[in-house]
Amino acid sequence: MDDLVKALQAALGNVWAYYFKAHTFHWNVRGPLFQQFHDMFGAIYGDAFAEVDTLAELILTLDVPAPASLDDIVQSATIAFAAAGDVGMMLVQLAADNAAVIAALDAANTAATAAGKQGIANTLQGLLDAHEKWGWKLRATINAGAAG
Ligand SMILES: [Fe+2]
Repeated sequence: MDDLVKALQAALGNVWAYYFKAHTFHWNVRGPLFQQFHDMFGAIYGDAFAEVDTLAELILTLDVPAPASLDDIVQSATIAFAAAGDVGMMLVQLAADNAAVIAALDAANTAATAAGKQGIANTLQGLLDAHEKWGWKLRATINAGAAG
C-alpha cells in the first residue's frame, strides 16, 4: 500500500503544478487571441482543480493524511514551475506537463491495481481519459499554428 500512497502523492503534486501553471497562464496570456486562450486555460485549470480534491480524498481513503502544506504538495511534483513567455510556450509547456500528469496517473493506476484497489484504479482511469483528451486538444492547437 505504501507504493500506492506514494504514487497518489506524486500524482497530486503533478496535478497541482499543472493546475497552478494553467491558472497563471489564464491570467498572463497576451495577444490578439487573448479571449480564446484565456478561456482554454480557464477550462484546463478548472478541470485540474477538481482533480486535486479527488486525488487528496483517494489518499484519505487509505487512512493517510492529505497534504497539509503547499511545500508538501510541491515537493511531490516533477513538473517545473518555469515562467512561460508567449502563448506558444504556454501551450508547449502545458502539453509537456499534461504528459507528466498522465505518466504519474498511469503509475498510480498500476499501483492501485497491484494493491487490489479497483475503485481507486477506476477513478484514476477516468482522470487518465480526461488528460488524454486535453493532450489531444493541446497538440491540435499547437499543430494548427495558433501557437505563435
Ligand atoms: Fe479568471
